[in-house]
Amino acid sequence: MNPKHIAIIPDGNGRWAKQRGESRISGHIRGTAVVKDTIIQAKQLGIPILTFYAFSDENWKRPQDEIQGLMMLLKEYLISERATLVREKIQLRALGEISKLPPFVLEELQKTIEMTSSFNQMILNFAISYGGRSEIVRAAKLLAKACMAGDVKPDDISEKSFQKHLYTADLPDPDLLIRTSGEMRISNFLLWQMSYTEIYAPEVLWPDFNTNEFLKALEVFRLRKRRFGLTDEQYES
Ligand code: FPP
Repeated sequence: MNPKHIAIIPDGNGRWAKQRGESRISGHIRGTAVVKDTIIQAKQLGIPILTFYAFSDENWKRPQDEIQGLMMLLKEYLISERATLVREKIQLRALGEISKLPPFVLEELQKTIEMTSSFNQMILNFAISYGGRSEIVRAAKLLAKACMAGDVKPDDISEKSFQKHLYTADLPDPDLLIRTSGEMRISNFLLWQMSYTEIYAPEVLWPDFNTNEFLKALEVFRLRKRRFGLTDEQYES
């Protein structure tokens, strides 16, 4: 069975550019083109939810010119791909502290989110200015406020009610995480949601991730045995 929700850490843009003696931003430009192709691939393969780690909390610490380049790319992506998202009936959502984004990106992001909000052919999440720990702290604060207001009793807090305060409140957890460039880290991505996610970390750098690589990832996923903490016998019965 194909995964219902795929999360992707598109890693290796910088190394790809370095191998060619080019600037890091040229790696991100190529990486953005691959993001576009992957979205269409996922739609054609019938994957209902795709989540990209586009910009982490920690990425704000990168050199200013790289941050500026990534923000420009994001803005250009949102403007140039809006028509594609509408044509393909893909709903765009953002996960993260988007109020930290420069206004020229935030405006385009909000416009695209609004324009696509009624679509249901696929959900595309961009985690931007996102950190897994800060998402969990944010949920804890929301619940604490609800307790203070008398709307929730502390003893009634459950995993299920906690999850409702995450950015992904109404979405199933990712079945598969693809992190390119061979790195075996989660890097503060969807910490709560990845409890039982299958991790696949091919050596390919993100700018070289293509249809074959995507199909390979799905094949690896199909061959994985997922037991969610049960024994083989329990899970198969
Ligand atoms: C990791 O490569 C990539 C990023 C930090 C940014 C990801 C951004 C894109 C793919 C482009 C913009 C995204 C969208 C959704 C339009 P790296 O720079 O850490 O590479 P390195 O580890 O080789 O240095």
